[in-house]
Amino acid sequence: MAATEDHSTTEAQSPAYYVTTPIYYVNDRPHLGHAYTTVAGDVLTRWHRQRGEKVWYLTGTDEHGQKIMRTAEANGVTPQEWCDKLVEEAWKPLWQHLDIANDDFIRTTQKRHTDRVQEFVQDLHDKGEIYKGGYEGPYCVGCEEYKLPGELLPGATEDEKLCPVHKRPVEWLEEENYFFRLSAYGTRLLEHYAANPDFIQPASARNEVLRFVEQDLKDLSISRSTFNWGVPLPWDEKHVLYVWVDALQNYITAAGYGSDPERFAELWPASVHLVGKDILRFHAVIWPAMLMAAGLPLPKRVVANGWLMVGGEKMSKSNLTGIAPTDLTSHFGVDAYRYYFLRAIPFGTDGSFSWEDFTARYTSELANDFGNLASRVAAMVGKYYEGSLPAATAAGDAEQAVVDGLKKAVEEADRKIGEELDFAGGIAAVFEFIKLVNGYLSEQEPWKVAKDTSPEGQARLATILYTSAEALRASAVLLNPLMPATAEKLWVSLGAEESLGALAAQTIATVADWGRLPAGATVTKGDILFPRLEEKPSA
Ligand code: MSP
Repeated sequence: MAATEDHSTTEAQSPAYYVTTPIYYVNDRPHLGHAYTTVAGDVLTRWHRQRGEKVWYLTGTDEHGQKIMRTAEANGVTPQEWCDKLVEEAWKPLWQHLDIANDDFIRTTQKRHTDRVQEFVQDLHDKGEIYKGGYEGPYCVGCEEYKLPGELLPGATEDEKLCPVHKRPVEWLEEENYFFRLSAYGTRLLEHYAANPDFIQPASARNEVLRFVEQDLKDLSISRSTFNWGVPLPWDEKHVLYVWVDALQNYITAAGYGSDPERFAELWPASVHLVGKDILRFHAVIWPAMLMAAGLPLPKRVVANGWLMVGGEKMSKSNLTGIAPTDLTSHFGVDAYRYYFLRAIPFGTDGSFSWEDFTARYTSELANDFGNLASRVAAMVGKYYEGSLPAATAAGDAEQAVVDGLKKAVEEADRKIGEELDFAGGIAAVFEFIKLVNGYLSEQEPWKVAKDTSPEGQARLATILYTSAEALRASAVLLNPLMPATAEKLWVSLGAEESLGALAAQTIATVADWGRLPAGATVTKGDILFPRLEEKPSA
């Protein structure tokens, strides 16, 4: 019988877990605040990969607008030259240094972006969503945003007013612009927030947006004609598109909108837009309204993180408080850096960085609780069994408590990191487990049991060491998304690579299956996971 193809059952591409970071302005080099969101997204996406899901992680750079143009001018180069230099010399190398496993890097000056952006706004124009009008008001170039007079702070003189975010004078702009009919979307947005309570997180962010949209929304000025560093409007090339309207579209242009329908179907709508709380309205109000106008589905969640603060202010280059991540990684190492900010600051709230706090957590949590546990277990398997992991033949209640502790840690970490984006809570759950294993070892005292040469004594020693090594096997899997280089070292030192395969191929679903690490695995001491810190470098 001739084979016939049945197209009616062809399944649509299954959706991928698609996570985005804000695309960063390249007027300057990255600081801790930028790296904070990018590391969070990396941990989130690595966690979902470890669940065995199809994942896509996007980051990139926002390269148009007046802020970039002025910076380039001040440095005597063209805006494009400036962007190329900063992207290649500062931004991409930092993400590589911090072990960020992004799948794509979008730049808003790329043709794959600008072409699609023009099509998108042309479509809105054709649909009558855009009209020509005039606007005047206070503008902050730092935010690239018109401000409302009521939110400004007093300046040095009576006429001067300051941006509440940048604390710099705003400029008065008067222009003939094109406008997007944002005001028409208030009701639909409120309906969407009500029907999708998880759309904006955390609750404080959601409330802020609700309060904002419940007031009357104003139409949005979406073009500028006093400078030309931007995407020209296809129907009126004297205007360039407002940088935010251009930038927001990166999430769809990078996902194949208008160029690769299959990929777009797989990636869109995005699972999570990670944003800083200062850019929440763009993502939770303007962007959804633009998508509604274009007839595209909305992202599933917009999750706002708090700010890293210095001296009670948002850390920033313009305040001269922007600390370069490499100033910290050169001292603490990359993995400790990835660990610290997500562990120390509940995601969604502001937090301060302190050298003392970082040092304290490094020493007690990473070096003592975790690093020492790994090296003690490896050393004892070396000493008593020549590095060949013994089998557990005499497990009892104490071992069952470790098995149960692992189950609980996996359940909590998976929910908190994978679903709730409560990184601090999820990491704490894993470290509770590590503490439990430390407690188990102290109570069982294998170094004393080793002196008991009876068969029972020897069976207990083997059981204690197997249990500890197996607990470390699970810890390596659970910590892989957060500290991939360290987890890999541990994985190799447990001899897990040869018996269980690559660490990245281990799944969260099987991590709590007790007994995966086989007896006979070759355990070696390996490098110290968290070496003693050098003296703090003088400022
Ligand atoms: N280019 C826009 C985003 C466009 S997304 C379509 C932009 N860029 S930015 O470089 O100024 O900021 C990018 C992100 O970095 C924002 O989410 C902002 O909140 C974050 N941070 C900048 N300083 C920060 C801290 N001090 N702390 C935490 N995050 C902060 O806005």
